[in-house]
Amino acid sequence: MPSEKSVYLPDKALSKNAYVSSFAEYKEMHNKSIDNPEEFWGDIASQFYWETPFKYDKFFRYNFDVRKGPIYTKWFDGATTNICYNVLDRNIRNGHGDKIAFYWEGNHPDDYSRLTYKNLLVEVCKFANVLKSKGVKKGDRVAVYMPMILEAVITLLACARIGAVHSIVFAGFSADSFSERISDCEAKVLVTADGVWRGEKFLGLKTICDQAMDKCARNGHNIECCIVVSHLCRVTTPNRIPNQNKKINMKEGRDVWWQDIVPNASSSCYPEWVQAEDPLFMLYTSGSTGKPKGVLHTTGGYMVYAATTFKYVFDYKPNDVYWCTADIGWITGHTYAVYGPLANAATSILYEGTPFYPDNDRFWVIVEKYKVNQFYTAPTAIRALMKFDADLVKRHNLSSLKVLGSVGEPINPEAWMWYYKLVGGEKCSIVDTFWQTETGGHVLTPLPGAVPMKPGAASTPFFGVQPVLLDEFGKEIEGEGEGYLVFPRPWPGIMRTLFNNHERYETTYFSKFPGYYCTGDGARRDSDGYLWVTGRVDDMLNVSGHLMSTSEVESVLTEHYGIAEAAVVAKPHPVKGECLYCFVTTTEAVVFDGKLLAELKQHVRERIGPFAQPDVIHNAPALPKTRSGKIMRRILRKVAINDRDVGDISTLAESNVVEQLFANRPATA
Ligand code: WT7
Repeated sequence: MPSEKSVYLPDKALSKNAYVSSFAEYKEMHNKSIDNPEEFWGDIASQFYWETPFKYDKFFRYNFDVRKGPIYTKWFDGATTNICYNVLDRNIRNGHGDKIAFYWEGNHPDDYSRLTYKNLLVEVCKFANVLKSKGVKKGDRVAVYMPMILEAVITLLACARIGAVHSIVFAGFSADSFSERISDCEAKVLVTADGVWRGEKFLGLKTICDQAMDKCARNGHNIECCIVVSHLCRVTTPNRIPNQNKKINMKEGRDVWWQDIVPNASSSCYPEWVQAEDPLFMLYTSGSTGKPKGVLHTTGGYMVYAATTFKYVFDYKPNDVYWCTADIGWITGHTYAVYGPLANAATSILYEGTPFYPDNDRFWVIVEKYKVNQFYTAPTAIRALMKFDADLVKRHNLSSLKVLGSVGEPINPEAWMWYYKLVGGEKCSIVDTFWQTETGGHVLTPLPGAVPMKPGAASTPFFGVQPVLLDEFGKEIEGEGEGYLVFPRPWPGIMRTLFNNHERYETTYFSKFPGYYCTGDGARRDSDGYLWVTGRVDDMLNVSGHLMSTSEVESVLTEHYGIAEAAVVAKPHPVKGECLYCFVTTTEAVVFDGKLLAELKQHVRERIGPFAQPDVIHNAPALPKTRSGKIMRRILRKVAINDRDVGDISTLAESNVVEQLFANRPATA
């Protein structure tokens, strides 16, 4: 296996044609972006259309120091623009109207379609007019709960066109999680589809929306209108049996079918010019405590940053075909399946299904079918695919590939090597992109063709990004070392606030180390100056790239009448990266049996979503606590991996608890 010293040089041909061809050139550009941000970003931003232009010398201001007053970031302040106009009309004016914006590939291989830039604009304008007719105005929130279909992209762009704020909730979240999010953002309209097939699994989206809307109504928040794409009637089901018996309830006066109202709408819609710092979208992410946080991104800076990272990190050239497998419900889907590619007039693939249907080579079938040049996926998918026969990859012609991306969690060197050798044929650049919902776009990543690669290292900062490592006392670590990964200044795409809660924004991200944005991740700098993200330093878990907090799962477990107390830790998992290992103490009246176990798993699925289902539930008559009552998670993490080297337990109130836990580890652990 490669070590920290292993370095893989970019392919020579790739380097030669890349936008950035050498490390020296990267360094020079990065220096300029830091020393002279207004010139660097101003030159890039001037390629976009601004209804009111920005003023070169004063479009960038910020304060990252809570001691000096409120935290804020402003880019292109004072200018007005519209991101939908920039990604559609501007490209069409520049001669890309007949270019394919999206190849849509359905769950079933028989289902596929395509949309040019011109046609996409027509659809977006129609839907924008529909939204307007439903009373949606600039600044209003539109909730979106959709599968990977073209109408999802159309919905986002239609919102952007009229200045409405889209708030997508990943269509894997349960009705409960979903209703909490749409109520928090006070959404006026909800856009969804009747249902979707993912592999051989059916997901009844509208039914989930009905439950969520009922729940909202009980809490006094009424969704005024729910627009439903009739999707099932046009797709091939896994067993080719027509999608019958999937009756959809449509509530009179509230619910309407997309197909009944969109075709007749006018196909011209003048864009709403918005301030660069007006909100574009919000997206919820888990916090280590409390409710999910509504991360808010604004228009101008996000547009410029999404476009620039996409261009350089994927080295996207005009005739390339690009594919990001991320769901539109995550930030990766926003920035790198919609806005980034479209801003570059790119041709992308939008794929509805899973990597495993109809066979475990579906990804490679699609890469071959469309001659994909850039492929962007998550380590958890790579690890899942690595388990299958190598021939599933080798039997396909993947020679079109040039750049392979990874996102969501640290990629382990084994998975990196498999990706590099088998998928990339040792000639592709691997970009291990570190970023967050909050950062809006990539912040650490090697650039293809320019930065020599080290398996497992997110490596180097993107333009405008200045990473700093801090020790426990907030002192900057120079040279080699490990510490908290923080940033002393903003890049254009960073979030601006948490929706309706600027105070929480300041305490969550800026209070631990005044003067810095705190990522919540740790990182190590090696002797070559490369950065290696080591994982979360807070109580967050990363299950298959889904971030969630231990406290979120704990509070859901203790909602069950049979559970008195719960403690959740992350356990390493060969495919998911991490999985949930839950310790529960039952109430006296309840026995810990198979029935309780099943109920608890089901409860977590219902309250949060299927991806949060615990892998292990451990019956813990007592939890290891300090005398002051604090649960010692450090010990629980050791129990989870069956490592008896628990270290100092002298501060424990009852020391025999630990022995007891090791003795009754469940067989499934
Ligand atoms: C957290 C953010 C970025 C979009 C998808 C996740 C972890 C993400 C990497 C990477 C190591 C990574 C971090 C981060 N993470 N990418 N390349 N190497 N860790 O967005 O849900 O906001 O999660 O994912 O822990 O803080 P998110």
